[in-house]
Amino acid sequence: MPTMDQIAHKPSLTGSPPPPRQPYRRRRIVWTVLILFSIVFFFGAPWEFPAQGFSSISRASIVHLVRPPGWVPDEIYGLLYFVTRDDGRVLSHDAAVDPKKPMKLTVYAKGSGNWTQRVQVLEEKYPVIVFSKTYCPYSKKAKELLATYDLVPPPKIVEVDLREDGDLIKLILGRLTTHSTFPNIILRGKSLGGSDDVQSLHDERKLKPIFEQGGVHVMGDVIGTEG
Ligand SMILES: *[C@@H]1O[C@H](CO)[C@@H](O)[C@H](O)[C@H]1NC(C)=O
Repeated sequence: MPTMDQIAHKPSLTGSPPPPRQPYRRRRIVWTVLILFSIVFFFGAPWEFPAQGFSSISRASIVHLVRPPGWVPDEIYGLLYFVTRDDGRVLSHDAAVDPKKPMKLTVYAKGSGNWTQRVQVLEEKYPVIVFSKTYCPYSKKAKELLATYDLVPPPKIVEVDLREDGDLIKLILGRLTTHSTFPNIILRGKSLGGSDDVQSLHDERKLKPIFEQGGVHVMGDVIGTEG
């Protein structure tokens, strides 16, 4: 058996000594790998985003997600909290409400309530929130698709066109999720996108594991790639 050293120094078939190693070539390989990785990261990431976001968190831990003391939720939780209250309150275009600018959580709930607790209750009750328009065919399609999943807890549907503050909510939601059309399907504060997005995830059999990893039970007879 020749040793690795002998193999490395074996003369080539033409008899000429092997060319010296070129650091330039090695650097080029490193760069190629880096560039390929960046491309995969930038273009691949949006599609993998929901699954990746939850992949390291087990189902049990996300259902009872423990936030550190003093945790301040993102603004989207303020909006989600506000629209799921069903107390008839609406946002009005007053001095404190500029939908184009980041807004404080106190705009969505006055006083100094415990936001950690509010978000905890919100996510246990409504992990999936669908911003929809009653007359929009894409909203209808998404709601029908989600109905086949028979989610527990069921999705909370917010029909934005039935709200007086629908226009404000559209602008705020667009700013917070970078998805400015309806429907907008939110799983635990993250937008899964619209009808075509969830349909693609469904077709790729990724939607079921995404819901399950988000701590939502899928009772419907749908096929997923895992779980
Ligand atoms: C807020 O609620 C969380 C979760 O219920 C709790 O752990 C925390 O102690 C509360 N913080 C305050 C300041 O009451």
